[in-house]
Amino acid sequence: MIAKVSQIYFPVHGDQRGSLIAIEHNIDIPFSVLRTYYIYGTKQGISRGLHAHKRLKQVLIALSGSVTILCEYIKKKEYYLLDSPNKGLLIEGMVWREMYNFSKNCVLLVLANEHYDEQDYIRNYEEFISMTSRNVQ
Ligand code: TYD
Repeated sequence: MIAKVSQIYFPVHGDQRGSLIAIEHNIDIPFSVLRTYYIYGTKQGISRGLHAHKRLKQVLIALSGSVTILCEYIKKKEYYLLDSPNKGLLIEGMVWREMYNFSKNCVLLVLANEHYDEQDYIRNYEEFISMTSRNVQ
């Protein structure tokens, strides 16, 4: 796996009534959440993301439906399928991400360790490549 991306499997508390997942900050995920947002109603064929963050850490969870996440870090690309509410994808800083193949019913929850800050975004792919290759040298 890419060093700055990891999969998290949350324990499911299930019984005859159904299922429940609890996410304890700094225990089940390695940070305290300052921001939560969710993406839903994504049109067919649409890709989202297409950026990296300099420092932000995020955990993505498909609460409903499924979505594929492409992550790229220092010339290594990996694809992750989020298709269950107990699967989380932790993405740290300097990882290019693209979200695509959203199912119609997909609700993608994102937990973030910082408030929204446009200055933390790298939206230009060439700039991302040049910043990460500089880091390796
Ligand atoms: P955008 O960055 O385009 O989303 P994605 O990464 O999925 O392509 O964000 C869409 C809009 O929502 C944009 O106007 C910025 C705004 N936004 C916030 O106000 N707060 C947030 O936490 C996020 C993630 C986006």
